[in-house]
Amino acid sequence: MKRLGILLSGRGSNFLAIARAIREQHLLGAKIAVVLSNVEDAPGLASARELGLPAFAIPSAGRKRADHDAEMLARLHQHKVDLICLAGYMRIITPEFVRAFPNRILNIHPSLLPAFPGLDAQRQALEYGAKVSGCTVHFVDQEVDHGIIILQKTVEVKEDDTVETLSARILEHEHVAYSEALARVLSGEYIVQGRRYVHRDAARPSRATAR
Ligand code: GRF
Repeated sequence: MKRLGILLSGRGSNFLAIARAIREQHLLGAKIAVVLSNVEDAPGLASARELGLPAFAIPSAGRKRADHDAEMLARLHQHKVDLICLAGYMRIITPEFVRAFPNRILNIHPSLLPAFPGLDAQRQALEYGAKVSGCTVHFVDQEVDHGIIILQKTVEVKEDDTVETLSARILEHEHVAYSEALARVLSGEYIVQGRRYVHRDAARPSRATAR
């Protein structure tokens, strides 16, 4: 059984989609071990408590990033977390944090990376005039919205879209994408070639194994 740690800062709809996927047995072999938030009154934290999950606020306001991350890490280890899902966690994590869970931290971003990293990705896509956007689930590395891409889903940008309508359409896809990506990672049936996440069956033999 793989134990998931969910980190969130707000609404928590991606967390709830993951919780639903587990409940409906679409993510066999996974359970949510703990939900952590850097924001005390994050609605997602309240939802986690309603679901009876261990859920804790570790406020970050006014604290040194290293101290806050150390406390987060201690809590994740205490709950024996194998895999971390950032689900609207609006705080950059330290390199130490990333190193503690190499290729075991996932994030979801509401654009087709590497386009429109950072805040307000949906607004960025709309204002840039992109005709398609979408969402990306990726491993977290030391750079913001940069790690190896596990899965992407595209969404059409319509001419009458507002930031709200585009965000809502992307969010529907996020809720499916995160569980799909998690299922893939949990299966362990993949290898990483450079920046490429490749299903094991599709992987070309590496030089070391090629005859
Ligand atoms: C999502 O759009 C996600 O892609 C981004 O933050 C938002 C979080 O939404 N990283 P929610 O809290 O999961 O509802």
